[in-house]
Amino acid sequence: MRKIIAPSLLSSNLAFLYRDIEMLNKSEADWFHIDIMDSSFVSNISFGFLFTKYVKKYAHKPMDVHLMILQPEQYIEQLKACGADHLHIHYEACIHLNKTIFSIKKNGMKVGVAVNPHTPVFLLQDIINDIDFVLLMSVNPGYSGQKFIQKTYQKLEDIKNLILKTDSSALIEVDGGINLENSSLLFQNGADILVVGTTIFSDSNPKEIIHRMKLGY
Ligand code: DX5
Ligand code: ZN
Repeated sequence: MRKIIAPSLLSSNLAFLYRDIEMLNKSEADWFHIDIMDSSFVSNISFGFLFTKYVKKYAHKPMDVHLMILQPEQYIEQLKACGADHLHIHYEACIHLNKTIFSIKKNGMKVGVAVNPHTPVFLLQDIINDIDFVLLMSVNPGYSGQKFIQKTYQKLEDIKNLILKTDSSALIEVDGGINLENSSLLFQNGADILVVGTTIFSDSNPKEIIHRMKLGY
């Protein structure tokens, strides 16, 4: 069982971004998760190229970039140039998903496909052997601080079964509403990676939260 923690900078204190990046560098966190939104795929606007580039300059860990944008294929080269290591694209945001997956790989990045709470898992069948991650949304994308959707456990199970059945090497990453209670359950139930925003950054001892999540309690 892998226990990767990817703190989401959407919940960080942007007025003290460098301080939060340094805290994560010194913590047991594994990756930096960056949420990019376009106000079309989701009803919010967050970070873009400049932000990603700036974080890359100081972050000493892989950058896990979650694109909540329509037609993400337009920005693959630019995001690579900004230092993205992984790109997650949403199933519903890509007209030619297979083509976009291979374009991300060709540009030297790992690729994840994100499924919304409403997206049926069987839709991943024809791409599951081509991707590095399934990003399972446990909230509707667009905002941090939302409540974890319980149905996620069933979807996690379905994704695990699909991976086993197809002999895929994809890892399962869960994103949204994760706290100290559900984090250990998610790891026990087969999640490899957890994206965590509010629970880490709203605590006075974020490093300790990361430490406890990695231990699984
Ligand atoms: C939601 C984002 C998440 C979000 C997680 O659209 O994809 O990465 O920042 O934040 P919390 O942990 O607060 O739900
Ligand atoms: Zn995210």
